[in-house]
Amino acid sequence: MPNSAAWASSPALLVYTRCGFEHDAAAELAERTNEAGVHGFCRAHPNDGLVEFRTHDDTPVVPVFAALDFTSLVFVRQWLAGPGWLPPLPAQNRLAPLLQTLPAGASYADLWLEYPDTNAGKTLSRFCRRFTGAVRQALQQQGAFSDDAGYRLHLLFSDSATVFPGIAPVANSSPWPLGIPRLRMPVQAPSRSTLKLEEALLTLLGSAERERLLRPGRTAVDLGAAPGGWTWQLARRGLRVTAVDNGPMDAALMDLGLVDHQRVDGFRFRPRRPVDWMVCDMVERPSRIVPLMSRWLVRGDCHQAVFNLKLPMKRRYATVRDGLQQLHDELHRAGRVMSIRCKQLYHDREEVTVCVIPTRRSPRPVRSR
Ligand SMILES: C[S@@+](CC[C@H](N)C(=O)[O-])C[C@H]1O[C@@H](n2cnc3c(N)ncnc32)[C@H](O)[C@@H]1O
Repeated sequence: MPNSAAWASSPALLVYTRCGFEHDAAAELAERTNEAGVHGFCRAHPNDGLVEFRTHDDTPVVPVFAALDFTSLVFVRQWLAGPGWLPPLPAQNRLAPLLQTLPAGASYADLWLEYPDTNAGKTLSRFCRRFTGAVRQALQQQGAFSDDAGYRLHLLFSDSATVFPGIAPVANSSPWPLGIPRLRMPVQAPSRSTLKLEEALLTLLGSAERERLLRPGRTAVDLGAAPGGWTWQLARRGLRVTAVDNGPMDAALMDLGLVDHQRVDGFRFRPRRPVDWMVCDMVERPSRIVPLMSRWLVRGDCHQAVFNLKLPMKRRYATVRDGLQQLHDELHRAGRVMSIRCKQLYHDREEVTVCVIPTRRSPRPVRSR
């Protein structure tokens, strides 16, 4: 529970999502909060990158933080609980009325001033950077920061006068401002797609899992590899990669000596020996990708996988939910105990990224024919 009764009784949950996916985030949020026993309704405005969830009768939304694991939400980049949008702040003096609305006596682990990830939102980045100093200083004078507070204070501005103040639990929210990890395009990487796999490994694996599962000498297959952005991510960590694609691979990447290029159909390729990782970025319908992924995992051809699900124009949340359920059911029937994680990453566009890894206690599968 937040350390202030005012925050604990917050009736509104604001979530950030990719611009254009507000209805998908709303569909997911409505279903997941309902399953968690917190009943309410969503307001999604197309193309503003935000969805608001309110409980019926304005009962507190904070129980959602305890009932749902943030990492299990696909279309949600960040979530905050708060009172709702404040009345417009006067341009001559924003600070005093803003501070007056924040509950007295509450403490925070940190303060982030943010804006929606839209073209209009991005124009607020300088304003937010500059205003952060003033708000932080005022809160410091009140002794409002404490490392073990457990909650971060977020001020989400939709314009320089309009703000939604909210809190997010540090241990159950995105660790990045705006819910976006900032990655730099590596100069040697053959394609921008490389950032998708880098973000997937950063977001969908914990640091101990990355350390354990991505050691030099491990093996991988990359289905739909050309020109090699994903293969490069694996090879730079010292993995030996079989890159499957009819298209050409980047010459400098091939010179590393860690990559074997197979010009064959990714739907027919099967490795001679089981590999640690299979990654797949083939542009295909989920109804073809999901069965292919479950075949690899069920037969024990790979121990872990990362793959994309390209989204249709309509019913995008339902497509993802049903695809993940199908994968879960097939793994479960085969006795594979695996953790399935899925997120629409910042570098994903009309797609989501899925990572499947064995849970710590599941035995390595015996490979089947
Ligand atoms: C989005 S690109 C992959 C980009 C790559 N991940 C990177 O980082 O550079 C999709 C690739 O899938 C390949 N592809 C599509 N269908 C395939 C199939 N049936 N078998 C093998 N490759 C396929 C295409 O040739 C294309 O190079």
